[in-house]
Amino acid sequence: MIEIKSFSSFFVANWKLNGDFKFIDQFIENLKVSNGNSKCVVICPTSIHLDYLRQKKNNFYVGAQNVSEHQGGAFTGEISCNALSELNIDFCILGHSERRHLFSETNVEVSLKSSRVIEYNIVPIVCIGETLEEKEKGKTNDVLSKQLDESIPHSSNSDNTIIAYEPVWAIGTGLTPTLEEINKTHKFIKNHNSKYANYKILYGGSVNAKNAKEIVSLSNVDGALIGGASLKSDVFTKIIAD
Ligand code: PGA
Repeated sequence: MIEIKSFSSFFVANWKLNGDFKFIDQFIENLKVSNGNSKCVVICPTSIHLDYLRQKKNNFYVGAQNVSEHQGGAFTGEISCNALSELNIDFCILGHSERRHLFSETNVEVSLKSSRVIEYNIVPIVCIGETLEEKEKGKTNDVLSKQLDESIPHSSNSDNTIIAYEPVWAIGTGLTPTLEEINKTHKFIKNHNSKYANYKILYGGSVNAKNAKEIVSLSNVDGALIGGASLKSDVFTKIIAD
């Protein structure tokens, strides 16, 4: 497994259902990741493109966007941890809000998937976050507490798991919480249970080349999970260089 503690920050590109072979060729040709730096750059393409991207690996890591909690069997269309591990995939985003909302993924499933990837020495990047309605009702901390309690498995610790705080209302909308709100929420997560104190906690939701530096510089933020802005190699290069 990757040594999480050896990195100061993480920049995770979530390509979602975007990209093809030509896109990957061009993206990697233009991407600049400096050598030997303490920032960990992870790119998560569609499952079909994992192997192709991995073959182009150069100062970055490759991550999946989802995986089955089952090791094998009659689960048509699913992808196993064993398959990811055979491709030497190092990270897996789990419990992204699109999985939770569009595919009805529950906290329990996220926890099972997380413990399964840990068994295969793959680092789960477990996503949590409140909806706009929950935020407006002042329920953010309650929602995050429940997601933490139920989606992070017992086998998780700061050496094998990363958490990503992604307010659902900030994803793909161009809206972000204030810097103060982000830092406060990350502090809340770190303090929720003493076991989270040393976890790397990434922020996600409308991170771009203009706001990434100040967000990632916050004392309780250890990196970013980037969707839309990670699809342009020059923008992503700027985000990771800053
Ligand atoms: P966004 O997506 O950067 O486009 O808001 C982030 C995510 O969904 O992880």
